[in-house]
Parts: sequence; C-alpha cells; structure tokens
Amino acid sequence: MKAVVFNKYGGNEVIEVRQMPRPVPGVDEVLIKVHAASVNPVDWKIRQGEARILTGSGFPKILGSECSGQIVETGTGVKGFMEGDRVIGFPGIRRLSAFAEYVSVKENNTFAKPENISFGEASTIPVAGLTALQSLQKLGHISRNCKVLVNGASGGVGTFAVQIAKIFGAQVTAVSSGPNALLLRELGADEIIDYTREDFTKSEERYDIVFDTVSKRSFSECKGVLASHGVYVNTLPH
Ligand SMILES: NC(=O)c1ccc[n+]([C@@H]2O[C@H](COP(=O)([O-])OP(=O)(O)OC[C@H]3O[C@@H](n4cnc5c(N)ncnc54)[C@H](OP(=O)(O)O)[C@@H]3O)[C@@H](O)[C@H]2O)c1
Repeated sequence: MKAVVFNKYGGNEVIEVRQMPRPVPGVDEVLIKVHAASVNPVDWKIRQGEARILTGSGFPKILGSECSGQIVETGTGVKGFMEGDRVIGFPGIRRLSAFAEYVSVKENNTFAKPENISFGEASTIPVAGLTALQSLQKLGHISRNCKVLVNGASGGVGTFAVQIAKIFGAQVTAVSSGPNALLLRELGADEIIDYTREDFTKSEERYDIVFDTVSKRSFSECKGVLASHGVYVNTLPH
C-alpha cells in the first residue's frame, strides 16, 4: 500500500510517499480502508521530533493520527464492528499511521461514522473535536448561558469549540482575524472580535471560560477578563 512515511525527524524534506506493507489487524483491531485523513498542527510537530517522548525513535513511521473509512477486516476478538462498517479511526499520536491506504486501529479507538457527515468531515473529529469538547466540558465545566470566549476560533479546534459551546447553550465570543468573521457567524458565534484591531484582554466584558485554542495569550494576560470562578484553558503547556 502507499503511505506517507518519514525515516528520521526533520523538516518537510524527510517526508516521502512510498510502498509499505499492508497492516494485519491484531485480535482487538479493525483494518480500515482509508477514505480521508486529516492534517493537524501536531503532524509537523511530530515530524520535527517535538513529541518524541511519545513517538519514540523507531523508524520508518507513517504520519497521521486520525482518519475515516470502511472496515475491510476485523480481528478475532472484535465484537462491535464488522466488515463494511463506515468508521472513524483514531490510531493516535503514539501509534500514528493514518496517512496510508490501510490503517489498523484498536476497536476501542474506532467509532461509527455518522451518516449525515462526509468521510472528510468525519476524519477531523478525533483530534480537534475531542480537544474542543474536553476543554470546554471537562476542564471548563461549560453550562447553559455561560459566557465563553474562544481565541483562535477560526482554526481546527476553534471551529469545533464555537459549535460545541453553542450546543451547550453558551454565549460565544469568537476571536479571529477579520476575514474569518463570516465563517464564525455561520458557525453560530454571538460576538466576533478581530484580534488585529482589538485586544480582548482589555475588554470590560467578563467570561466564565476563556479557551485559548492557539495558546497565544497567557493566563496572566487573560485573568482580567475572567469572571470570579472563571476558567482559563489552553491547548499547549507554557
Ligand atoms: N493539547 C492537545 O491535545 C491539542 C490538540 C489539538 C491541537 N492542539 C494545538 O492547538 C493549536 C491549535 O490547533 P488547530 O488545529 O486549531 O490549529 P489551526 O487549525 O492551524 O488554527 C490556528 C488558528 O489560529 C489563528 N490565529 C493565528 N494567530 C492568532 C492570534 N494571534 N490570535 C488568535 N488566533 C490566531 C488562525 O486564525 P486566523 O487566520 O483567523 O488568524 C488559525 O485559524 C496547535 O498548536 C495544536 O498543536 C493541541
């Protein structure tokens, strides 16, 4: 099968498309014929070796941590899926391997693809979508009518965050560059701040959650716009 492979950590030049053996699913794994796989910032960070504590030193590695497609084979212990099922696969950052024609994924990292979204849309959910959901729900304790500010709202994590916050019934302020305002309106944002013209950290408004999806503004910069008991969440350790 064809796969996107790198043989050492480095810049774009270490990536090549080459033939690799088709994986054989383990007992608790499904083999997915990949229809779509998503690219995230973490992919270039992995390629450069910034996550080597998780990705280790074994090469070659196949890049890519999320995909969608159709199951073509199941391990003998798989109970919840069968050949032909349309699924989302999340091999994850330790295992990678999604940028290939076939990917073997643990059953418990495989999810039924909703019928009303495309394979392309489905493949974006595990990394950006779960990050947004966990940040708002588990860390931010989002609730109805709370005020949420999403910085980096037009990005992968941010677009999920805006939509998820609206589903929870929150009032959402989205911070992006000017040209992305229309997109954010379409996604349901109540207020939009163009960060090239206005600094949200100087606002008189108070937010229950400030979710900095791009980790551009520190807690100390944001604490002035947090309500008492407000929560600041970002996606990267500082
Ligand atoms: N910890 C985790 O598990 C986890 C998971 C997923 C992602 N991440 C990290 O989270 C970060 C964002 O990921 P992503 O997938 O959302 O990235 P992305 O799709 O590349 O989006 C980045 C967004 O940042 C915006 N931006 C750039 N400069 C900005 C600024 N000064 N202020 C506000 N927004 C700005 C850009 O929008 P404009 O064009 O509108 O400026 C762009 O849409 C990455 O560093 C990624 O590695 C961490």
